[in-house]
Amino acid sequence: MSVAEAMTPRAIDVETIGMTKTFGGLTALDDVSLRVRPGSFHALLGENGAGKSTLVKCMMGFYQPTRGQVLVNEMEVSIPTPRAAHALGIGMVYQHFTLVPSLTAAENLVIARAECPKVIDWGRERKELNAFLETTPFKVPLDMPVSSLSAGEKQKLEILKQLYLDQRLLILDEPTSVLTPDEADEVLGLLRGMTEARDLSILMITHKFREVTAYADDVTVLRRGRVVGGGRVADLSVGDMSRMMIGETEIRESASRTEQKGRTLKLELAGLFADDDEELPAIEAISLKVHAGEILGIAGVSGNGQSELIEVLSGQRPLQDGRIFIDAKPYDPERQMMDRFKVFGFSEEPLHNVAVPRMSVAENMAFRSFDKAPISPVWGWLSPLPMRNRARELIAAYRVKTPSTDEPIENLSGGNVQRAILARELSGDVDVLIVANPCFGLDFASVAEIRAQIMDQRNQGAAVLLVSEDLDEILDLADTVAVMSEGRVSYQSPMENTDRATIGHAMAGHH
Ligand SMILES: Nc1ncnc2c1ncn2[C@@H]1O[C@H](COP(=O)(O)OP(=O)(O)OP(=O)(O)O)[C@@H](O)[C@H]1O
Ligand SMILES: [Mg+2]
Repeated sequence: MSVAEAMTPRAIDVETIGMTKTFGGLTALDDVSLRVRPGSFHALLGENGAGKSTLVKCMMGFYQPTRGQVLVNEMEVSIPTPRAAHALGIGMVYQHFTLVPSLTAAENLVIARAECPKVIDWGRERKELNAFLETTPFKVPLDMPVSSLSAGEKQKLEILKQLYLDQRLLILDEPTSVLTPDEADEVLGLLRGMTEARDLSILMITHKFREVTAYADDVTVLRRGRVVGGGRVADLSVGDMSRMMIGETEIRESASRTEQKGRTLKLELAGLFADDDEELPAIEAISLKVHAGEILGIAGVSGNGQSELIEVLSGQRPLQDGRIFIDAKPYDPERQMMDRFKVFGFSEEPLHNVAVPRMSVAENMAFRSFDKAPISPVWGWLSPLPMRNRARELIAAYRVKTPSTDEPIENLSGGNVQRAILARELSGDVDVLIVANPCFGLDFASVAEIRAQIMDQRNQGAAVLLVSEDLDEILDLADTVAVMSEGRVSYQSPMENTDRATIGHAMAGHH
């Protein structure tokens, strides 16, 4: 691609007509027509399970629609595979990173090309890359391994990759969930600039109204697979859009915090040290106390040791040094002790971490399957009928959208997998609750629901350790806040003695 070509405004016009997709008896998409005008920034809203990902997967050639067409620049096209979508200029950026961590940004870009040669002439590639970079507002360090980039830089690189592949409609599925608010604004601002220059059209799935009002021109709202509204963003209020999304469903009010007197110490972390996968120190001398009836919120920019801490506490990463105590007794994060001390937990990406994708919703809700053998003679007491009945109750209580209790959990939408696993972990008798980014990817009604559930557990006396990259979540829920920075606790305070600015400052590494 020459510089001159890259400069030509070439945003494409993409339209779906009557898109319908059924999975067995379930109509996930029902007659969806949507138009992304050339050079526009189009937001796609809808509650968990509304059909947003299904729609864009049909546009990307991951799924074949049951009925319906895609038009590019007003011509009907066929998109049998993702490769065909790319050839038409349609590219997608996912919520999770797809880059190779050990390679540099430059290497990632070059190997992403379909026609990437077997023997790479790096001198030439580098020249072309530099020429290409001149044409984009996205700047990312090119010569460092991707693993050393911040989340914001990685997301920028994902987008850069699509631009490098010359895609002219970018589909973004919740692109900002891994970013801090400032990073999100930077990335969306740059994209907005490219749409205004008519270099790019954008279709963005998001759960954040703020992003819709600040960056999108048009919006389409899906509900139960159908288009229930939309139009110019300038003509719509947040109230209008949220009503379209959830109709008359009531949103759970945030649970009020009940007074907890004379709290007893429940969970104590005493000088924890652990290494990351490269055997470099990931957490160092972490000492924290959580009392019964207290939520300790751990804030911090991702990649400062939070995920390693969670892995240590859930028994997935060895401790190098330090002790964990519950009720002043030594605690090892393994199955029997978890049961004995009533320790429950939940982390983001449940489908990879705490669920068994191919097993049914009912099975996943019955077992904490990641460390238990499923259906074995020992589990005879958990015969299918009571298991299904229990699952049915939880599905209703947590409003999990699934065709049946027998559906493989991997077929549920992202937000609904999350709800199913939360139901399992929150519905028992909980003394210690360890959660990381529990609302990642959830729609606003579910966020309210889940936060209220966590507060309920606290009010009933559970000690809650909440790791969250979402500062609003910490401000909303925590009694005490701690900030992690470079593997250490760099700041700690009762919530009533601190504020957003002070915590934000500590998160940025100033203290
Ligand atoms: N491969 C599949 N097999 C069976 N059902 C599926 C499959 N993919 C999606 N579904 C169902 O289609 C419906 C729409 O799911 P989809 O993933 O499109 O929702 P979404 O709007 O992206 O939700 P979220 O905000 O939670 O990501 C859901 O009921 C889901 O269970
Ligand atoms: Mg989705």
